Amino acid sequence: MSAGKQGDTLCFFINGKKVTEDDADPETMLLSFLREKLRLTGTKSGCGGGGCGACTVMVSRYQPATKTFTHYSANACLLPLCQLHGAAVTTVEGIGSTKTTIHPVQERIAKAHGSQCGFCTPGMVMSMYALLRNKPQPTMEDVTQALAGNLCRCTGYRPIVDGCRTFCQEANCCQANGDANCCRNGDGNPEKPEEPRLFEKEEFLPLDPTQELIFPPELILMAETANPETLTFYGERTTWVSPTSLEELVQLKAKHPKAPLVMGNTNIGPDIKFKGVLHPLIISPSRVKELFEVSETPQGVWVGAGCSLSEVRSLLEKLVPQFPEEKTELLRSLNQQLGNLGNQQIRNVASLGGNIVSAYPNSDLNPVLAAGNCKVSVISSGGRREVPLNQDFFMGFGKTILNPEEIVVSVFIPFTRKGEFVRAFRQAPRKEASFATVSTGMRVFFSEGSRVVQDVSLYYGGMGPTTVSAAKTCTAIVAKPWDDETLSKAYDIILDELVLPPSAPGGKVEFRRSLTLSLLFKFHLEVLQKLRDTNVIKDEVPEKIWPLPREIQPSLQEFQAVSKDQSAQDPVGRPIMHRSAVGHATGEAVYCDDIPKTDGELFLGLVTSSRAHAKITAVDVSQALQLPGVVDVVTAHDIPGMKFRPMSGQEEELMAETEVECLHVFVLESEAIEKSSYYEPRRSIERGNVTEAFEKVDQIYEGEMRMGGQEHFYMETQSMLVVPVGEEMEFDVYVSTQSPSAIQEAVAETLGISSNRVTCHVKRIGGAFGGKVTKTSHLVSITSVAALKTNRAVRCVLERGDDMLITGGRHPVMARYKVGFMNDGRIVAADMEYFTNAGNTIDESVLVVEKMLVHMDNVYNIPNLRGRGAACRTNLPSNTAFRGFGVPQGLLMVENMVNDVAAVLGRPADEIREINMYRGPSVTHYKLEFSPENFLRCWDECKLKCDYSARRKAVDQFNQQSRWKKRGMSIIPIKYGVAFAESFLNQAAALVHIYKDGSVLVTHGGTEMGQGIHTKMQQVASRELHIPTWKIYISETSTNTVPNTCPSAASFGTDANGMAVKNACEILYQRLEPVRKKNPNGTWESWVAAAFFGKISLSATGYFRGEDLYMDWEKMEGRPGAYFTFGVSCSEVELNCLTGDYRTLRTDIMVDIGRSVNPSVDIGQIEGAFMQGLGLYTLEELKFSPSGLLYTRGPSQYKIPAVCDVPLRFNVYLLPDSDNPHAIYSSKGIGEPVVFLGSSVFFAIKDAVAAARSDSGLVGPFTFSSPATPERACLACNSQFTQKIPTSKPGSFKPWALNI
Ligand SMILES: Cc1cc2nc3c(=O)[nH]c(=O)nc-3n(C[C@H](O)[C@H](O)[C@H](O)COP(=O)(O)OP(=O)(O)OC[C@H]3O[C@@H](n4cnc5c(N)ncnc54)[C@H](O)[C@@H]3O)c2cc1C
Ligand code: FES
Ligand code: FES
Repeated sequence: MSAGKQGDTLCFFINGKKVTEDDADPETMLLSFLREKLRLTGTKSGCGGGGCGACTVMVSRYQPATKTFTHYSANACLLPLCQLHGAAVTTVEGIGSTKTTIHPVQERIAKAHGSQCGFCTPGMVMSMYALLRNKPQPTMEDVTQALAGNLCRCTGYRPIVDGCRTFCQEANCCQANGDANCCRNGDGNPEKPEEPRLFEKEEFLPLDPTQELIFPPELILMAETANPETLTFYGERTTWVSPTSLEELVQLKAKHPKAPLVMGNTNIGPDIKFKGVLHPLIISPSRVKELFEVSETPQGVWVGAGCSLSEVRSLLEKLVPQFPEEKTELLRSLNQQLGNLGNQQIRNVASLGGNIVSAYPNSDLNPVLAAGNCKVSVISSGGRREVPLNQDFFMGFGKTILNPEEIVVSVFIPFTRKGEFVRAFRQAPRKEASFATVSTGMRVFFSEGSRVVQDVSLYYGGMGPTTVSAAKTCTAIVAKPWDDETLSKAYDIILDELVLPPSAPGGKVEFRRSLTLSLLFKFHLEVLQKLRDTNVIKDEVPEKIWPLPREIQPSLQEFQAVSKDQSAQDPVGRPIMHRSAVGHATGEAVYCDDIPKTDGELFLGLVTSSRAHAKITAVDVSQALQLPGVVDVVTAHDIPGMKFRPMSGQEEELMAETEVECLHVFVLESEAIEKSSYYEPRRSIERGNVTEAFEKVDQIYEGEMRMGGQEHFYMETQSMLVVPVGEEMEFDVYVSTQSPSAIQEAVAETLGISSNRVTCHVKRIGGAFGGKVTKTSHLVSITSVAALKTNRAVRCVLERGDDMLITGGRHPVMARYKVGFMNDGRIVAADMEYFTNAGNTIDESVLVVEKMLVHMDNVYNIPNLRGRGAACRTNLPSNTAFRGFGVPQGLLMVENMVNDVAAVLGRPADEIREINMYRGPSVTHYKLEFSPENFLRCWDECKLKCDYSARRKAVDQFNQQSRWKKRGMSIIPIKYGVAFAESFLNQAAALVHIYKDGSVLVTHGGTEMGQGIHTKMQQVASRELHIPTWKIYISETSTNTVPNTCPSAASFGTDANGMAVKNACEILYQRLEPVRKKNPNGTWESWVAAAFFGKISLSATGYFRGEDLYMDWEKMEGRPGAYFTFGVSCSEVELNCLTGDYRTLRTDIMVDIGRSVNPSVDIGQIEGAFMQGLGLYTLEELKFSPSGLLYTRGPSQYKIPAVCDVPLRFNVYLLPDSDNPHAIYSSKGIGEPVVFLGSSVFFAIKDAVAAARSDSGLVGPFTFSSPATPERACLACNSQFTQKIPTSKPGSFKPWALNI
């Protein structure tokens, strides 16, 4: 079978329209078909591997046998087009649009402020839509399950959940449900004015399921009448065959044993995409009915291997209540494990047989299927046989005992017997949508009325190349009584039996080994409980380990209402919806890669060096040029202008010319320190006399701490399109960047042309977080060289893996500190030394160090304070700006130091914090006078709102009563300086046009990246021009309208651009004064018309000069920020000490942001930044090989927070009655400060760990690095299980990954 042959016609429906394809290519996925062929760009691409949910669509099918329809969400990036024959696909465009009507899901997510950059929103909408098609009144559990596979990097999920919650029937009290007895009514005092809400549920369209798109009758007819025939589709490299009967399938497989059976494509798809695997033939058995049959026998149930995991779940849910509990032990364990496997979109397509045959090392199902004595029925041309799923079945990574031509037809799941108990456990880096670190299936059988073990099986995933059995341990347990003595022997045997070498792939060796023990212990406890419940034993069970709480509660968002005197039309201070929210939710909002292809457009791919440090001796591109589709190869020799970007006085090469840049083959700061490899200048600052002060203190403590870096993981990867205009070396650049002028300059300098030939356009950015400034200008420079060389438009959109590999992220930091304090808790001297891992180029690394040092006092008045900082040059990819710009790293060390002081003194950390806070008129360590009054108000208010003292007591009480679960609580402050210390960056300009019809076009220098700057600018213009916001439009940010823009960064975008827009509008309103006076009762439109006829200019530029900020490092003094934004956050967690798993039970955040221009936008920034901080400090872990290769190159390996990580109660309060003379309308910048408050979860985890350690007699400070992953938390608890794990001597082996 080969390309060129005439295949069948593929027929399916998209959004009610028929699609027929005569040349369907088996290698095409639905996502690219939608985006490129049909131009349905609402469905986004965020990862291409099923890990982010941005591409979610709904697939509907008709089952002629039962005459029923199924609707399910699926990832378009993994859905082969050829799989869709006979299906109906619904995309975000199909459910509603601004041109017709929008769907209630779209409306509610938009109006609940559930979108910021909006890139994830269509996926969120479609996941929720698919849920509602199946269940119009879902529970909250349904909602969180449906959204578990959809990542959002901006919002913090709370508003999305609140928008979706409005569909739930549950009587959860909150403003989201608009209940009369709302919790917000508090004391029920009718006199109390009602508090303002972020949105009004009453305004929402009702959900009317009868209005949904119907399943196409033509497809029903097709399914009912057509005689199924074999379908064949021929592509360039791959042929797709879909047989109709088992017999045909067997023949095909006999003929082509190497051809994979593609069911859900969730294993095969990623292999093809990411590992470049090529399958000349693919067999799709999705129409072979035997693979989907279910039958019951007295011994158990046979389930078709083709059933999707969701179908298996539904089946188990249906079966369990039909049988006595004792028979369904295995069914229930399987069901529980299925609930945690992957995410909804994956489970909806991934098949049971596929999961078994894929034989993943850390499969969730295989250990429990094996422990439960399941078997598979397989067929091949040689006949049928039944094969038990035991230790002989799983032979190695992705390898089973089956012959290549064998097909799994069904899986037998037996009922359990009386006295038989089955459990399945897993521990994963993230609670949901994450492969397990270790998974287990455990079964034990007792003869009736006895605690003596008749039979036991223990299977583990994650402890070898495939599912493994702890057979020796089982043998040691059999015939013994199930008690502590037997089990304690079992722990020792299992340790010997399941050994992982210290350099085992996947790392986390000690953790994985300790999980084998602690999960067995958990099983032990549950079995004891069962034996007790069934009156077999009378022993007291030491402790029942309940699952961590998981239900997301309604939360509070408190802000001040605008004054009663404010005109109803004036939007400033009101929670106005993001101006593009509806466009986000309908998929109509246009991002860079949604721009239609121009004629002859080319696509640029980057070739990266396979060696970190190498000389280029010659470049031969001849082979590349022969590849199909390759038009040209661009190298450094093609650059006509500057071959580098100047950064901090140094030159960063755009493309390697003679040598691959990474000069020093070491990756850790410690190696750089050893070799004195730093970027200059190194910085230091000191107040008082630290050395002398140390001599006078009561106590001194020295500590060291490491903190890992962070990947931006903006949902829209780096994207750009460079279009040669065709004359006089003019170029249009469409790009996703925070700094249009930097891009313009970079393109001009690279091409050797002047800036006036380059126009940079930025409509919106799908998230940036600091990562779309310097790195984007490098990429766009390279893209522009390709456009120049080929004289064609060139687009470059990085794959997620390349983006993560190339563009760097937040700097990892190592800090050493020495702190001197008095016995009463006063810190008298502190000496901090910071080393950041800057990577192979300087980028903004020195500036990051500077910001770290400037903020190192946080809210503490430490009289003798010294800070030294160095950016280490290593051979990691170069790190760059990231929300907070060093402050989240620097302050973690400071707060950790304060915690250590508390631990040494044996006092509560919040007390030591309070003792050392600035009070009254204060001066920072760089000699800036300021008032901490608003900060102290935040602190007191936060403690009050979160009921700190009572809850602290409750936490301590909980910990006294619980051995294996501990709670922890912490309250953390921040004082954050807003604006750039580099004074020239604090300027901004705006251009405002009034057209003759009265409509207004505003352009300003800020870029819209989800932070709502355009919405706020519309509010400013509306107030100043006294017109409603709908008359004001913002199209894009462009360098030909507003030149010389400063980056949208440093939390200063609204401050600067708001003043510029205000200035332009004031000028225009002033100009209209004569016509307004002449016709005081006239309308806006009449004044505008009169002005035009009166020859009054209706266009004005506005400008804001910004304050003269500076930092003088010689004198160690300055004013590096315009003012401070203050905040305090209190978090409480519950930690399972056996596994390190934790859940944030509650977070309260009090922030002083002056008078908010838009409380919904600002609260969105607070929640989003907090969640990004929570990810930074507790979850996100970059893994590098010892030679610096990045392993974590996608959402499967790198976990950002998902819905399951949202604090169960997540309250945000804006400090009332706060003014700020330094920013527009007395507001304050809020983009960055709250990232650091995510560390309240880190310190709460540390607090819980400390409680666990004290049970083992360990008190006082201890080293605990960030992020506080389950691995770190579990090991730090130092339980009897972790103590058993032998540690390998560092240096005696090569670790799989480095702790960077
Ligand atoms: C984002 C993501 C998250 C995931 N998370 C988890 C997780 O948390 N836990 C977990 O256990 N798994 C997880 N998985 C893996 C997933 O469960 C498996 O990939 C899936 O079950 C495989 O089924 P499939 O139908 O998609 O297989 P396909 O990709 O279609 O096929 C996989 C392989 O199985 C073979 N095969 C399929 N059916 C049969 C059959 N009937 N007889 C013989 N051979 C057959 C094929 O030939 C092929 O080699 C995840 C996958 C993704 C993409
Ligand atoms: S793009 Fe499909 S899941 Fe990420
Ligand atoms: S709004 Fe969700 S990723 Fe930006």
